[in-house]
Amino acid sequence: MPERISLTRYLVEQQRVHGHIPSELRLLLEVVARACKRIAQAVNKGELGEVMGTAGTENVQGEVQKKLDIIANETLIEANEWGGHLAAMASEEMEGIYVVPNRYPQGEYLLMFDPLDGSSNIDVNVSIGTIFSVLKKPEGHPGVHDEDFLQPGRCQVAAGYCIYGPQTTLVLTVGDGVAMFTLDREQGSFVLIRENVQIPEDTREFAINMSNMRHWDAPVRRYIDECLAGKEGIRGKDFNMRWVASMVADVHRILSRGGIFMYPWDKREPNKPGKLRLMYEANPMGWLVEQAGGAATNGKQRILDIQPTQLHERVSVILGSKNEVERVTGYHNGI
Ligand code: AHG
Ligand code: MN
Ligand code: MN
Ligand code: MN
Repeated sequence: MPERISLTRYLVEQQRVHGHIPSELRLLLEVVARACKRIAQAVNKGELGEVMGTAGTENVQGEVQKKLDIIANETLIEANEWGGHLAAMASEEMEGIYVVPNRYPQGEYLLMFDPLDGSSNIDVNVSIGTIFSVLKKPEGHPGVHDEDFLQPGRCQVAAGYCIYGPQTTLVLTVGDGVAMFTLDREQGSFVLIRENVQIPEDTREFAINMSNMRHWDAPVRRYIDECLAGKEGIRGKDFNMRWVASMVADVHRILSRGGIFMYPWDKREPNKPGKLRLMYEANPMGWLVEQAGGAATNGKQRILDIQPTQLHERVSVILGSKNEVERVTGYHNGI
């Protein structure tokens, strides 16, 4: 058995050996990882823990909140508000930003999260997760405002997710590639299982919700039709399809073995660019995929270059194996 490196040691080395992250960011990431461990414990209880089913409330997205959406959100707020690393937090489950209360020291980072991704899978025991993204608070003014969060994804200083599946695995980048850590429940610590993750540039596996096919625009329809035509078609190879309906699970598969994930614009809600949220789904996942040698666009441009205009704005997402993402993006741009 090779020597197992803990998340703590990985982060200390990223700070002290590689000089990639300051201690404040290292400490923040340790707090987020501890919060994910607590969320995993709640998730693993299922029916035994009064965590299943809906909370009967609606979030700012217009979605009915699940009990675990709220439990995960509260767990991340309580774990992160007192440590002195953060100025404020933003979440899929909260309309406005959560400024760290005055009774706690203010930090220089901003934390955004989707506390529980894949909520429709909670009650059917399918993998779900937590997605997080870290920005630096802009300097030059006291306090913190919504606008401080409105930075393009290329400004992130850390991003990751924790997937609550057969294993509880935390996946992280601080700009030095992608590393994966599985929770050792006996030790209670995350242990490095992979680093320098690389997504194959080509794939035979696409992930999209096919039930929306009649609503897609032409470039997406063309791409999927070509995949479905298989080796007899112009692609000259057969494709497989996967759709978990938890972004964390679909992205984890792509980081693990390649593939392309698409949640494109569709005409069900023509005024919305897509279903997924830019700040705490597309940006963190887009950076992870790019750090692993993949690509992430909204069909027209790199996701990480999009200038946000509001906290909960949505975006069309095409990400994964570089050559496939470039093909679809080319179709959108008339190539
Ligand atoms: P969330 O549960 O955080 O609201 O996100 C769900 C998202 C994403 O995880 C997934 O890829 C997508 O919704 C699935 O959408 P459909 O149910 O429309 O397939
Ligand atoms: Mn939701
Ligand atoms: Mn989500
Ligand atoms: Mn969510």
